[in-house]
Parts: sequence; structure tokens; C-alpha cells
Amino acid sequence: MEASLFFRRICLLWLALLAGLTLFGQDRKPAVYEPKIGQKGKDVVWVPTPTELVDKMLELAEVKAEDFVIDLGSGDGRTVISAARLGAKAEGVEFNHDMIVLSRENARREGVSDKVEFIEGDMFEADLSHATVITLFLLPGLNIKLRPKLLELRPGTRVVSNTFTMNDWVPDSTVTTPENWNSWNTAFMWIIPARVDGLWKSSDSEISFSQKYQIVGGLLTRDGRSYPVDNGRIRGNQISFMVDGSRYSGEIDGDLIKGTVEVPKEGTKAEFTAKRLASRP
Ligand SMILES: C[S@@+](CC[C@H](N)C(=O)[O-])C[C@H]1O[C@@H](n2cnc3c(N)ncnc32)[C@H](O)[C@@H]1O
Repeated sequence: MEASLFFRRICLLWLALLAGLTLFGQDRKPAVYEPKIGQKGKDVVWVPTPTELVDKMLELAEVKAEDFVIDLGSGDGRTVISAARLGAKAEGVEFNHDMIVLSRENARREGVSDKVEFIEGDMFEADLSHATVITLFLLPGLNIKLRPKLLELRPGTRVVSNTFTMNDWVPDSTVTTPENWNSWNTAFMWIIPARVDGLWKSSDSEISFSQKYQIVGGLLTRDGRSYPVDNGRIRGNQISFMVDGSRYSGEIDGDLIKGTVEVPKEGTKAEFTAKRLASRP
């Protein structure tokens, strides 16, 4: 065989080998998972929260570096990643394995892997005890199913839900992104209230509080006379209510309320302390 023909054959063989190696390499590259809007999920399909609303939800909850945010049904990880970009630690709980892999990759690309964790599993079994903020984009029935567990969280924990409410638990705040008028554009926030329902005693009165979520009513008894507790509200550990024209406000610390009582028509303000005698079963 002529030397130049031999050389050409070697070159062709070499090129074929290179092409083969390249194709083989491409085959072996992990394909990036592309979720489809509306794809089936365990209890609810995947639809992503628009990024403008993600930002508003985190703003509504005043997410800061000290926070621990948990997104239940975390999809592609966008809320978790945005929370981490605000400096918070964040966790996503997602049932779909491919979405977990995608979320971890998205977090890596955004440079926040050290701040986030994605847990593959069922959100109804997740440990929420370390959360200071919970984010949701589920369905009304799923919110209601989660509600008892959410109400057990530390007072002051914020729960933010894209679009869906908590039935008769009225939100503490609402936010909208009007520019997204044709899409998911409203979120609601609830602040887990401390529990006060039961019997309390202050220096000159007994107060029987009744509580439904963050709304408080009841009866204050002093010198044998009873007065209704009006406009009672709890925000985390803070309580405020009116009795017979006096404005009470204070902080609930377990079985103690410490604060002030103001009588606007007399222009007076004094310290107020109450101790819990009994909880309502
Ligand atoms: C409407 S998407 C919301 C995704 C993300 N939170 C967001 O706002 O962009 C709901 C997600 O919940 C997931 N999901 C459904 N049932 C679940 C369950 N029981 N436990 C964990 N994840 C679940 C779905 O796979 C889907 O990704």
C-alpha cells in the first residue's frame, strides 16, 4: 500500500474514533429534566408560582437571614432558592424524584447549595418544627389538611399561600402582583397565634378568653361585674383587646401576659400582668 493512502486511512480511522467518542460522551451526559406545567404530582399537579409572586410572598413574610423557610411541595425549588438568596436557610419537600434532582441542580447553578436542602418525601410527614416561615402553593383541601399541624408551630411562624385560603382562618395579610392579573397573582399570610383560651387572673380581675385562630373574645370580671372582651387579636405572641373603653396590649409568654392597659378618656397608662389559671380543653 502506498504511504499516502495508508496515512489517509489512519486519519479517517482517527476521525471516526473521535466522532464515536464524542457521541458516546453526549449519550452519557445526564439529560436535564424538563418538567411540564400541569404534570401529575402525588396530591396536586405541578404549576410554578410566578417569580414576581415568589418575591412578594417572601417579602410579605419578611424573610431574613435568621429565617428557616420550608416550601411544601417545592416543585423546581424556586421559592427555596429565592429564600436562600435572601440569606435564609431553606428546605423544600417534594415527592417527585426528578424535581428534587432538578431543584438541587438549580440551587447549584444559583450558588446557594450550602443554604438549601431538598427532601424527597411526602409533605404531610415532614418535620416542620424548625420552620419560621412555611410557603405553600397547593389546593384549598390540602391547606385545610395541613392546618392543624401548622397551628401547632411556634407562635410567630408565618405561613404564606399562593392563591388558596385556609377556609375560616382569615389571613393576617394579603399581597397581589397586579401586573400578573391573568395568572396566579395573590398570596395570603397567616401568623401562628399563641394560645390564650382559658382562665386568666390579673391583680384586680379574672379574664376568661375564648379564641378562634388569631381572634379573641371573652369576659373580664371585676368587683362582681362582667365586661365583654372586644376587638381581641393575637399576632404571634402579641395580644391586644378592649374592655369597657380600656385598651390592653401585651406579650404572651407561656402562662404569662405582660403589657399595659390604657384608658384613653382618662389619659392614663399602667402596667398589666395576667397569669393563666387554666387552659380550655
Ligand atoms: C403547584 S406545585 C407548586 C410548586 C412550588 N411550590 C411553586 O410554588 O412553584 C405543587 C408541587 O407539590 C408536589 N406535591 C404534590 N403532592 C405532594 C406531596 N404529598 N408531598 C410532597 N410534594 C407533593 C408536586 O409534585 C408539585 O411539584
